[in-house]
Parts: sequence; C-alpha cells; structure tokens
Amino acid sequence: MSSAPAFQPVLQRIAQEIAQSPGRGRPADYIPALAACDPNRFGMAVAELDGTVYGVGDWRQPFSTQSISKVFTLALDLAHEADALWEHVGREPSGNPFNSLVQLEYENGIPRNPFINAGALVVTDRLHTQTGDASGTLLDFLRAESGNAELAVNQDVAGSEAAHGDRNAALGHFMAAYGNIGNPVPVLLDEYFRQCSVEASCADLALATGFLARHGVRADGTRLLTQRQAKQVNAVMLTCGTYDAAGEFAYRVGLPGKSGVGGGVIAVVPGRCTLCAWSPGLDEHGNSVAGVTALDRFTTLTGLSVF
Ligand code: DON
Repeated sequence: MSSAPAFQPVLQRIAQEIAQSPGRGRPADYIPALAACDPNRFGMAVAELDGTVYGVGDWRQPFSTQSISKVFTLALDLAHEADALWEHVGREPSGNPFNSLVQLEYENGIPRNPFINAGALVVTDRLHTQTGDASGTLLDFLRAESGNAELAVNQDVAGSEAAHGDRNAALGHFMAAYGNIGNPVPVLLDEYFRQCSVEASCADLALATGFLARHGVRADGTRLLTQRQAKQVNAVMLTCGTYDAAGEFAYRVGLPGKSGVGGGVIAVVPGRCTLCAWSPGLDEHGNSVAGVTALDRFTTLTGLSVF
C-alpha cells in the first residue's frame, strides 16, 4: 500500500511554517531575467518510486532549473561514456563558489567536480560530443521522466545568461587551453546556457529525479545507470551538490541534493522517494533559503534521511 497520503499533512505543515518564517534571501541578480522573481513564492513536491506525486504551494509553477540540470547531464553522460568521464572531471568538494576560477590552474584544467560550473561545462561538452545535442538530450529526458511534453528552454533566460556569461566563457576557454574541452567554446556555452534555462516545476523535477531513488531505473522501467553509477551520482550530490555549503546541507537535510540559482533544490531518499522544493530567495552560497529549510523540516519530521 502506498504511504504517500502520509506525506500530504507533512507538506502542508512545512508550507505553513515557511509562510510564517521571515527571512527569504534574495533572488539571483547576476542574471537579470532571474532577478524579477518574487522571493515569497514557495512550492514543494514529493514523488514516490511509482510516480505518485504530492505537492503544496507553487508545486506546479515552472521555474528556471539552472544548476539542477547538472545532475541530469551528468547522469546522461555517464550513461553514454561511463567511467571515461572521470578522467576529465574530479569528484571532490571544491569549497569554493560555483563559478570560481581559482582551482583550475593549480589542477591543470581538471575541475574538482561535475557540479561547479567548470565541471558542468566539461560534462556538457562531453555529452554534446556523445549525442550531437546536449541540451536536446536533456530536454527529451526531462520530458520523458516527468511526463510533461511542454518542458522547454526559456529563450529570454538563455539570452540573459549569454549576455552575462563572461565568467563561464573564461572557464570554458581556460579549460580548452588545457585540452579538456572538445567542442568550440561558443558552441559549448550555447548548450550550457540552454541547459540552465530549461524551466520545470517541483512536480516535474521530483519525478525526473526518480531514477536516482530507483537505483538507476527510469520511469518506464528501463535502466539509465547501473546501481553503482546511481550510488555514485547520489554521493557526488551529497558532497558537492550545494557548492561551498554542501557540509551544512548534509548536516541539516541529510540527503543527496542539488540546488540551482533559480531557487530550486532537489533531493533523493534512495529506495523511497524524491523531493523538490522551490523558493527564489537565495543565501550567499546561491542556495534557496526556504527550499533548504523545507527539506530540513521534511527529513526532521519524517525521519527519511540517509543518516
Ligand atoms: O552558470 C551559471 O551562472 C548559471 N547558469 C547556473 C548557476 C547555478 O545555478 C549555480 N547554482 N547554484
């Protein structure tokens, strides 16, 4: 019997608590298209392994997935080239902001992990080489897993990212100088900005993350990743998914998770369910203030964490 109904009162309680909490942080302002988001918006969804999904608040409102997309491109690239990827990107926490350049020179153009921007650029570059269409492959996957054929790139956000993309361009060119980028950097940047600008709701993203709770198995029962690979992606999310706040996220939430500057945060309870919370106000590390609090409350109230 499904235990999902038990989640609805928990979600409602969390939404009430969030509505009463004062501090919301500030929406990302380095991409003008994101700056206009209302920090008072809040939504949260829980998806069970069978695709049953529950939600509260703005859980069906599409938002900019931003760096959450990096989980899916990582999984898709691993599905294509397996461990060969790890010769080009590490899997250690960086302890630095997501767009930092400082470690790259010391470490010969090999980024610390796939979730800082440099590492995500390497993953997207490699996925583009494998598929000829990195952002299209991502969209196809998200549409299939969420069951939402409407998912799309927001062209305004992608344009805004490109217009303010000097740091990502610097990362791309720097790694190209080390031979760690295969495609022309402008092509890579276009794919990366499109990837970050895909819009999806909490419901869509909780469902799309389901393969990580099902140990690598997609919604249709086919396998994307081996059980070992799914374990590895979850582990990298736990240690690197929220950048230089990954320790604090593990301490508070106790789940593999991944944030984006659009205000979304996904999390995985392996073997049980997946979560997505959204609220656009961010802390100084780029993580959603209310989103992380909601996940913290969820694992505290339900006892569902990996610890
Ligand atoms: O690379 C960027 O600046 C963004 N498109 C993605 C950043 C992001 O979401 C980092 N996360 N917290």
